[in-house]
Amino acid sequence: MKLIIANWKKYLSAEAEAAALAEGYVQLAVPSGVQAVACPRFEHLAAVKEKLGDVVVGAQDIMLEGEFSPEALKGLGVHYAILGHSDSRAAGDTDTIIRSKVIKTLEAGLKVILCVGEPAKIHAEGEEAIEQFVLGELESSLPVDDLDAEVADGSWTKDLYVVYEPVWAISKAGVGESDTPEDAARIITLIKEFLASRFSMPSSPVLYGASVTALNAAAFLSRPEIDGTLVGHASLDAEEFQKILDAAG
Ligand code: PGA
Repeated sequence: MKLIIANWKKYLSAEAEAAALAEGYVQLAVPSGVQAVACPRFEHLAAVKEKLGDVVVGAQDIMLEGEFSPEALKGLGVHYAILGHSDSRAAGDTDTIIRSKVIKTLEAGLKVILCVGEPAKIHAEGEEAIEQFVLGELESSLPVDDLDAEVADGSWTKDLYVVYEPVWAISKAGVGESDTPEDAARIITLIKEFLASRFSMPSSPVLYGASVTALNAAAFLSRPEIDGTLVGHASLDAEEFQKILDAAG
């Protein structure tokens, strides 16, 4: 199965705009073998959830406590939560906070979409630095010892999706340097090998996310190593998002 995640980020400020985009999403034809997830901002979840057809709803983050805790999100019909996204890290989420969020989210029975990826400075240092950075983020964000007994038996691993989100390549479609499918596949293979050896997770899906558009989606998604994409800007247009879904089918 390929997972295609639409992250609407903070682009839509009014609930009516999010609801209008959701109307477009109702018309989407999701190919078989593909799961589509739409992630509006917290305040729009309820309005969007009402309107989505074959697309399930995810959250852009969770709150460790309060209105948008994982339990509350589950009550709203949310299936997935994006954690460790570059926007959340930029807003102050450290690896320790992200790890706590991963644990709470898994314990609440939601699926975790965990983003890792290097910023421009590390990218410029070359392959070894990139690999160390990405695997370091994974190591410090994933729970091994602190989970409730109920989920600690390893069953949590089926609810974990990792996204390689090279921060330097975000929102560069048509305006700057972005990643190649070859480089993305190389890091994704490395992530998979690390998950298998360090966490006994031989078959965890790993997605790619940075500047994926209708024009380049097929090049990324045809790589067998890449199990889906996290789509930011290009997910704001339902027709373009349909093309990305088609490329995954
Ligand atoms: P983009 O966003 O598709 O607009 O580059 C991706 C992301 O924020 O992860």
